[in-house]
Amino acid sequence: MNAPLVQITHCQEFAAAHRLHSPKLSGSENAALYGPCNNLHGHNYRFEVTVEGPVDPATGMVMNLNDLAEVMRTAVWQKVDHKNLCQDVPFLNGVITTAENLAIAFWNQISAHQARLDGAKLHRIRVVESPDNFVDYFGGAQ
Ligand code: NI
Repeated sequence: MNAPLVQITHCQEFAAAHRLHSPKLSGSENAALYGPCNNLHGHNYRFEVTVEGPVDPATGMVMNLNDLAEVMRTAVWQKVDHKNLCQDVPFLNGVITTAENLAIAFWNQISAHQARLDGAKLHRIRVVESPDNFVDYFGGAQ
């Protein structure tokens, strides 16, 4: 029988400032598209990282969630907490800091630490920007 594949998730929160502004649009187009989000403002973000892997019969775990937490802290949290996402974060340089783009950028940050995931595979990044809005990224492209 194949080993059951299970997805496990760790969540962290950070506070950060940003504004939505596209260099491809004029000032008035940016204001019309993004509304108040074109102005500098802040969020209490939550981000979730889900990894998938077989349950190790010796431990009953896919991987140690403390290890996943540490990867998230070093790869993302320390770089974004209490920062201006549009100015202070090298890995977001030139990125329009929508939740979509944050999810993609966080995916790439976590992926760089794949070797620390104890054989588990990155499955999903969720970025929760507000109680009503969140995005998921599964690493897909088209
Ligand atoms: Ni915002």
